[in-house]
Amino acid sequence: MDRRAWIEVDMMRLKENIQLILKINDNFKLYGVVKANGYGHGVLEIARAITEYGVDTLAVESIEEGLFLRKYLSVPILVLGYTSENKFKIAAENDLTLSVCDYFDYEGSLKVEVQVDTGMNRLGLKTKEEVEKYLKFLQAKKVTVEGIFSHLAVANSDYYRFQLKNFLYLTQNLTEIDNLHLNNSLALKSARTEFKNARIGLLMYGIDGEDFKQIISIYSQVTAVKYLKKGEYVGYNNTLVKEAMYLAIVSVGYADGFNKRLEQSAVIINQKTYQIFNSICMDQMMVKVDQTVKKGDLVTLVNDQLTILRRAKECQMIPYEFLCNLSDRLDIIYRYKEKKVVHNYRFNQIY
Ligand SMILES: Cc1ncc(COP(=O)(O)O)c(C=O)c1O
Repeated sequence: MDRRAWIEVDMMRLKENIQLILKINDNFKLYGVVKANGYGHGVLEIARAITEYGVDTLAVESIEEGLFLRKYLSVPILVLGYTSENKFKIAAENDLTLSVCDYFDYEGSLKVEVQVDTGMNRLGLKTKEEVEKYLKFLQAKKVTVEGIFSHLAVANSDYYRFQLKNFLYLTQNLTEIDNLHLNNSLALKSARTEFKNARIGLLMYGIDGEDFKQIISIYSQVTAVKYLKKGEYVGYNNTLVKEAMYLAIVSVGYADGFNKRLEQSAVIINQKTYQIFNSICMDQMMVKVDQTVKKGDLVTLVNDQLTILRRAKECQMIPYEFLCNLSDRLDIIYRYKEKKVVHNYRFNQIY
């Protein structure tokens, strides 16, 4: 094993997840949300694959994320986040669609989607008057309005119905714009099909949805095994060894995304579960094992048993947060049916 720690992504599962989503509605137009390095799954390979599997548009957070993808892909890209006006020209030159809700002085061609705020109180226009006035402004600027969207706070409660009602109200009679999208993973999970279009992140990655399979797993390896006597200490926090034991040193740490809150948690080695011995360092952790564990053994940190949902909970995080905290220094092995591709996003290498 020549890698200290790495991510594996099952691309067949990714395809199946997208196929399941596409079945939810006829003629679904999907925005595949690949911001934050594809929720930690590595943006380029995910973006390439999902557009082949049926996703129509890529959704990123920033113009920089969009420009990175544009170097490789010619599909539509929507920048969801705020873009300062002095970057509009570069967006136009690179055929990036911007999400807008502010007035601007820029003159020139531009593709935009208008963001409306239906109750989340993040970015977006709030009232019908504001929306109508803004659309007139965009028309006078001669920019291309490709859609109107809003983001949900929740998807399975009265507040969803409130936001939906609000969205329908804000967009009613705007016959010239038929690309309206409100739904995200939560909404699709709750079988919301009010719109033909949706922006999907988490569900596509197979997290937190019945019938959807997590596509990520994470591994490391044992780099040494030590026999410790009662009374010795382990790690920076000087954890006392109360009984003689075997200790495995594993080459993964909090700089890779394995938070110190996991110190009371477990990993899997040779199909057996072992406790982390209260010691997660920046690049390594120590695990209490038995004499069957050897240097070079595979350590499973995340798989179908040690799920992202479970890891996130152990870290007192939401799954999005755990995924986004995975370090881009980890190699990512993408497994297709017939081939594998390896990326390292930090060091900009494709093997
Ligand atoms: C504006 C916007 N749309 C869609 C999404 C996708 O959400 P999800 O991953 O829950 O599908 C996000 C995620 O943060 C978002 O910010």
